[in-house]
Amino acid sequence: MIIAIDGTTSSGKGTLAKRLAAHYRLPHLDTGLLYRAVAASAINKGIDFKDERECALLAAHVELAEFDERELRGAGVGAAASVVASLGAVRRALFDLQRKFAQQEGGAVLDGRDIGTVIAPDADVKLWVDASVEERARRRFAELSGMGEKVTAESVLDQLKERDARDAARNDAPMKPADDAIWVNTTLLTPDQTVAKAIEIVEAHKGAPKKAPAKKAAAKRATKKPDA
Ligand code: DC
Repeated sequence: MIIAIDGTTSSGKGTLAKRLAAHYRLPHLDTGLLYRAVAASAINKGIDFKDERECALLAAHVELAEFDERELRGAGVGAAASVVASLGAVRRALFDLQRKFAQQEGGAVLDGRDIGTVIAPDADVKLWVDASVEERARRRFAELSGMGEKVTAESVLDQLKERDARDAARNDAPMKPADDAIWVNTTLLTPDQTVAKAIEIVEAHKGAPKKAPAKKAAAKRATKKPDA
């Protein structure tokens, strides 16, 4: 079973993906870490992360094991990752690795921005995870402060809006829900409640015939957009 989890920054998709993977005993890939690793390599090697050719070369040889995850999770690397992720050549260089991971025997859980649309359009279950921008900023602020980063609540909110806008506006594989994704609004949910809701959705959808547009459109309409 392939579970594709996409959504906005700090919506809770990463935690959800990890916990769903543990629940279903599936391997998990946080694809954001790949873009973060490319950005961190570019920073470490003094490569301009707007240089598409050089960044694509870094992406082609990216090795997550070489990085300290804490370093990758920082705010500076996150912002740079959003920039390198807008480069088509970087996305193409990372495609095969992600696709293979998704297609491994037994299935997998992947989370990112384009899993349900580009990497695994054939996923058995697609979730789109979102929360209000204020709640996401609150979570991100707590996370970064907990990591010892000197940030203000206002700067975190501004950076989050900037990243959302850039991730959604890029030409290549922009962040967006797949047409057949089920929306999970985590604004008022604890991580445990989010996991419970996601498991309910997975149970209801696994093994179901894929692509039933009428039902999916109705499910999507029934879910209020978090920031509306
Ligand atoms: O999920 P994250 O915050 O770790 O992702 C870091 C950046 O990488 C994010 O701003 C957008 C980009 N990204 C992407 O474009 N496609 C993915 N599948 C995952 C992440």
